[in-house]
Amino acid sequence: MGERVEIFEVGPRDGLQNEKRPIPTAEKIALIDMLSRAGFARIEVASFVSPKWVPQMADAAQVLAGITRAPGVRYAALTPNLKGYEGARDAGADEIAIFGAASEGFSRANINASIAESLERFAPVAAAARADGTPMRGYISCVTDCPYDGPTPPARVAAVAESLLALGCYEISLGDTIGQGTPESVTAMLRAVLDVAPPDRLAGHFHDTAGRALTNIEASLALGLRVFDAAVGGLGGCPYARGATGNVATEAVAARLAELGYETGLDLAVIDAAAAMARAMRTGGEGGHHA
Ligand code: HMG
Ligand code: MG
Repeated sequence: MGERVEIFEVGPRDGLQNEKRPIPTAEKIALIDMLSRAGFARIEVASFVSPKWVPQMADAAQVLAGITRAPGVRYAALTPNLKGYEGARDAGADEIAIFGAASEGFSRANINASIAESLERFAPVAAAARADGTPMRGYISCVTDCPYDGPTPPARVAAVAESLLALGCYEISLGDTIGQGTPESVTAMLRAVLDVAPPDRLAGHFHDTAGRALTNIEASLALGLRVFDAAVGGLGGCPYARGATGNVATEAVAARLAELGYETGLDLAVIDAAAAMARAMRTGGEGGHHA
């Protein structure tokens, strides 16, 4: 059997957050319940963010209340501040994620804070998660390129990674938010981050805007990363990064990993069914919108 690589499914959160059609809670629950049968260890299902900022995630608590939890699956939620953390905790999220950025422009656009302010805001979230024994992941957006500030210096990413690890994140997910990374820029970024964190504390989060996500995953594999975020059906995008299209598709990552001889432990027939369901959700309703 090949070496294990984990795909962290983020479709119900990153995949759906940018959809213009208000997706009924029952459809989100049906997607998550199907994904729960695919063999994932972790599925990101919701964000406890301001509904004014991201209306699509306003039903986060109802989603968590409605899913059928599969044993061995951790259901994760984004929490930008203490209010979000309390919502996630009350809804029974198994793990949470704080999300920062390596660029000031994106940090301001996405969470209305400078990088330094965001870290201050995360500190009480981290303290509460630690007290509750809730695992906390950390995201860094714009690890190679920012839609506002241009190319991101690798040292910036390493500095934010160090701060998130110091806050207690068990893993840092490195986000190519606008999918402009190249194998070269991803490799340079990773080399800097690997100076402050071992590869088993890092995950790759690639959006496929320029069609390079799979190549960038291979560049990350070469440097020892073994966890990658993906969304079934390749849905997704960030409302605060114009031009940020979908996450790399889970089914495409699983297929490429299999070709490379890695083992994901996923049931590809279930993944394909979930991808079809996810794509139908995008176009399903009146006013379905292709962002
Ligand atoms: P703000 O306006 O500065 O916050 O937003 P505020 O504290 O002044 O609150 C404003 C209003 O929001 C208040 O309500 C709060 O109660 C409410 P009002 O008094 O006006 O009625 N509020 C909340 N409501 C529910 N849950 C909460 C919450 N917090 C405040 N947690 C804030 C700051 C962080 C809240 C806002 O900017 C926000 O919600 N941002 C989230 C943006 C987001 O979700 N972006 C997408 C996820 S990140 C991403 O996709 C990238 C990633 O995939 C990696 C990659 O690809 O790079 C992870
Ligand atoms: Mg993303």
